[in-house]
Amino acid sequence: MPSPAEAGRLLHPPGGGVPAARSTRTPDGQIYWDPEVLRWELEQFFYRNWLCVGREDELAGTGDFVTRQIGRESILLTRDGTGTLRGFYNLCRHRGTRVELEASGQGAKSFICPYHAWSYDLTGRLIGAPHMKGQTDFDRKDYGLHPIRVAGWGGFVWVNLEPAGPDLAASFGSFFERFDRFPIGALRLGGRQVYEVEANWKIIVENFSECYHCAPVHPSLNRLTPYLSGDNDAAFRHDGPRSMFSGGFMEFAQDFQSMTRSGYTSRPRVPGMTAEDLKRVYYYVLFPNTFFSLHPDYLMIHHGWPISPSRTRVENEFYFPPEAIDAPGFDPSDAIGLWDEINRQDWTVCELVQEGMASRAWRGGHFSDQEELVQNFDEFVVDEYRRDPSAPRPPRGP
Ligand code: FES
Ligand SMILES: [Fe+2]
Repeated sequence: MPSPAEAGRLLHPPGGGVPAARSTRTPDGQIYWDPEVLRWELEQFFYRNWLCVGREDELAGTGDFVTRQIGRESILLTRDGTGTLRGFYNLCRHRGTRVELEASGQGAKSFICPYHAWSYDLTGRLIGAPHMKGQTDFDRKDYGLHPIRVAGWGGFVWVNLEPAGPDLAASFGSFFERFDRFPIGALRLGGRQVYEVEANWKIIVENFSECYHCAPVHPSLNRLTPYLSGDNDAAFRHDGPRSMFSGGFMEFAQDFQSMTRSGYTSRPRVPGMTAEDLKRVYYYVLFPNTFFSLHPDYLMIHHGWPISPSRTRVENEFYFPPEAIDAPGFDPSDAIGLWDEINRQDWTVCELVQEGMASRAWRGGHFSDQEELVQNFDEFVVDEYRRDPSAPRPPRGP
């Protein structure tokens, strides 16, 4: 087990000359490429926290379903006959086969394993198991799909693979309170982009958490919302009331109205926007892997799903008020196109960082005064390593 001092070396290399609690050194590279670190992070961060995995309207009717890959786990979400959302490990209880192979579907009556045809109803109960009658120690009711916790907010579906622990409101309630004044649940999907980025998931979170890079990397973003505009107003925190989100807002220059190619929009605004909101874009990270970015006329969501220590699938979704989507000629390409350009600029620099993290010369760098939330995220993560005796000890120290 690493001592706190050993674990802390990841973020606070010796010789930095600053107190461990407020180090201004960036992390050692190992946390970005070590498979053991990712294995531990999946267990600790992705399988024990609430994750935003989809939209309730993807599961509108009885038997509608989606599957999702979360690290090495596949999960299955569906709506049962009483209208209740249900979530399960997508794992046959016979010999462990993945039960549902499709990404989504509608109106399923049951889920039938492709191997030996054990079948499960929409509540996860095992309802068919050929040649199992009379088998010793076998009772169908003991072999339902393993359930996972499912909850909803803002029209989004959230899951937690840990059976016990804080409910969704305890984890994100204070974040939800900030946005309950908007009808987030009524927004509808208007576009979606999927990327595979050759970078560790944390590099993508770090990139989203600062705009220090915006002038050199994103001229079109910086034109609309200059990098020094706005403020951070939330940070991750372990102690006192635990805080699982971080972020703030940026402000439009001149009379710009939204993050679109022109900076202007004729779409209806998200209802509930005040004059102050209309001059801002709100950007938050919901730990560990959801980015929530509310613009005057749309909500943008990023989900980052680790595929390997150096590869992350990023899903980027755009939600608009229904009256915008239903208007004749609805065309979100001014927003989605701009963000596609910004995303690709980000992935390029994230991939360059990933390469650097494997360098034998890398010993951690030094944060600027524009990277408060990157530092906060890195400290939050490293504090989690410290707290868990099973966290991997880095074989290569700084
Ligand atoms: S593994 Fe599913 S029925 Fe055999
Ligand atoms: Fe960026």
